Amino acid sequence: MSDNGKPTLLVTGASGKLGQRVLELLLEANAGTIVGATRTPEKLAAFAEKGVIVRQADFHDGASLIKAFEGVDRLLLISTDTIGNRLDQQIAAVKAAEAAGVKHVVYTSIANVQENSTAQAGPDHYGTEQALIASKMGYTFLRNSIYTDMFLVTLGQAIASGTLYAASGDGKIGYITREDCARAAAAALTDGFEGRRALDITGPEALSQYDIAEIASAVSGKPVTYVPLTLEALIKGMVGAGLPQPIAEMIASFDAATAKGELEVVTNAFEELTGRKPVSVADFLAANKEALTQPAAAH
Ligand SMILES: NC(=O)c1ccc[n+]([C@@H]2O[C@H](COP(=O)([O-])OP(=O)(O)OC[C@H]3O[C@@H](n4cnc5c(N)ncnc54)[C@H](OP(=O)(O)O)[C@@H]3O)[C@@H](O)[C@H]2O)c1
Repeated sequence: MSDNGKPTLLVTGASGKLGQRVLELLLEANAGTIVGATRTPEKLAAFAEKGVIVRQADFHDGASLIKAFEGVDRLLLISTDTIGNRLDQQIAAVKAAEAAGVKHVVYTSIANVQENSTAQAGPDHYGTEQALIASKMGYTFLRNSIYTDMFLVTLGQAIASGTLYAASGDGKIGYITREDCARAAAAALTDGFEGRRALDITGPEALSQYDIAEIASAVSGKPVTYVPLTLEALIKGMVGAGLPQPIAEMIASFDAATAKGELEVVTNAFEELTGRKPVSVADFLAANKEALTQPAAAH
């Protein structure tokens, strides 16, 4: 607890897109002493000017973690972007948090987390959750669904060509925006909850790629048809477009998980946590219509 009676809150990976947005929300809420931990402190210079304490921390460097986590009450552990190669580092971060006396860890996990999840990201999240369960700290698992924001990368091309390719059959996903994930994380950090909870952070509905094609057509005014592919064809297409095979397989594993129904999770946990309605895919795409339909989006 800091001198002002408010908790000291730390965000790891604070220079990432989610991390920066959480810092902004914590500043807006005047939530306490705010610490941003990152591999690249210079990226957070603007936040330092607004009063955020910026500390250097890299999950690959255990010593940096214990130092960075000193005096912290509640910590947001943002999963890193090195899927398949991050479990040891995230476990090191959990151990450093416990050693530093952190009382509660909020962790950005994945929907329907399982040791043998089809999505390649699943086992790392499962292992990190297990490390937190084995610790003596309180925790909040935010089992975030897939970011709606991903469509800003993939859907422009589908709108331009009229064809949406995926290998998820008619499986559905409870898409949630990154903005709403940030709001959930800020709320879980600041609500003072001291126990242990697992929350499925999802959007308002589960949608298939047939639904996405329909929404994309309505938003763009151009017909978009979903063409289901086999997993092999999807991977081949991505590799043909220049992606390395392991990355193509990692991305395709989300389609495989979707086809099996593993990401068809919808709850009202977001609203209960934040008091807000989650943004729907249709509203998000409509708000980003320009980015989805301008010529550059077709690349
Ligand atoms: N639900 C979804 O659909 C979805 C989609 C994409 C990603 N994610 C997950 O959500 C996380 C946050 O999303 P985002 O959009 O903010 O991604 P992002 O902008 O790509 O951020 C990547 C994050 O990984 C952190 N990181 C990477 N290596 C690290 C290391 N060695 N030690 C500590 N931190 C490390 C970065 O921290 P610094 O650079 O500040 O050190 C940064 O916070 C991602 O990392 C990923 O695990 C979820």
